Amino acid sequence: MSPVANLQPRHFLDLWRLDGPTIRALLDDAKARKVARLGWPTGRPDADAPAAGRTLAMIFEKNSTRTRFSFDAAIRQLGGSSIITNASDMQLGRGEPIEDTARVLSRMVDAVMIRAKRHDDVEHFAAAATVPVINGLTDKSHPCQILADLMTFEEHRGPVEGRTLAWVGDGNNVCASLIHAAGKLGFTFRVACPPAYHPDLMDLSRAGNAGTIEIGHDPRAAVEGADCVITDTWVSMGDTDHDERVAAFEPFQVNEALMDLAAKDAVFLHCLPAHRGEEVADSVIDGPRSLVWDEAENRIHAQKAVLAWCFGGAA
Ligand code: CP
Ligand code: NVA
Repeated sequence: MSPVANLQPRHFLDLWRLDGPTIRALLDDAKARKVARLGWPTGRPDADAPAAGRTLAMIFEKNSTRTRFSFDAAIRQLGGSSIITNASDMQLGRGEPIEDTARVLSRMVDAVMIRAKRHDDVEHFAAAATVPVINGLTDKSHPCQILADLMTFEEHRGPVEGRTLAWVGDGNNVCASLIHAAGKLGFTFRVACPPAYHPDLMDLSRAGNAGTIEIGHDPRAAVEGADCVITDTWVSMGDTDHDERVAAFEPFQVNEALMDLAAKDAVFLHCLPAHRGEEVADSVIDGPRSLVWDEAENRIHAQKAVLAWCFGGAA
């Protein structure tokens, strides 16, 4: 038996599974870690190096740029190392059970990050693993992204509690994790989506009751006076109905006219990759209200907070 088999690992699977103070502590740790190493070379470990001697495995069933590079940079800055592979290169890709994969990797590494096609696979992997498991995006949620998003908003506009964030577009995985965060941290989250692309009702019931979540179909109403406007691709990885989606989402583009309805100092966020001319106009994503490059960078800092927490640190 593994010596750690009876310990409960700290998995980071979804924001709805955490309480508000834990999410707040993760955000604060991410910000503190960023400030503490300002001006340092990217490869220099943090002073506390909380992952020294630890190895993170990363498994990708879907493409990734930001998640892949930011987790790799993050574990190195925490003093640890990484092993990265595409699921198709593993026996997992030839049908080895996901639970067996979890049991084996738990004997070899200290934590596993997975980007999976099916959310249930991540849940099953975590249930069989004896080391922390991190959700690096599934069809249902993207919790790491939302830590970076909220961190970015707060760096520029202060605490998110009590503020209004507007989502324009697909009620997808990224939207779901924002719903979870709103309910835990206490902000207003307005969603404007086409009726056929409504968020999962399960996510509304899982969100805590600290915030206010409003779902509608009018982008102008959602954005009115909002402190932040957020969107994402109209066609996520794994979606097969491209043409129907592009037609349904055409009135949901975030452009200057829509941004002008938001608060005077409203900011724009997008998890990237973006499709200019579809969900966002060039003038918005490349304009002064856009924080997307800070948001992308903050994936490293947010992920470091998650990894340190998984290893028993923050919160
Ligand atoms: N935002 C995000 O998760 O990007 P990648 O798909 O490039 O990892
Ligand atoms: N909703 C998008 C997010 C990509 C980071 C997707 O799942 O493809």
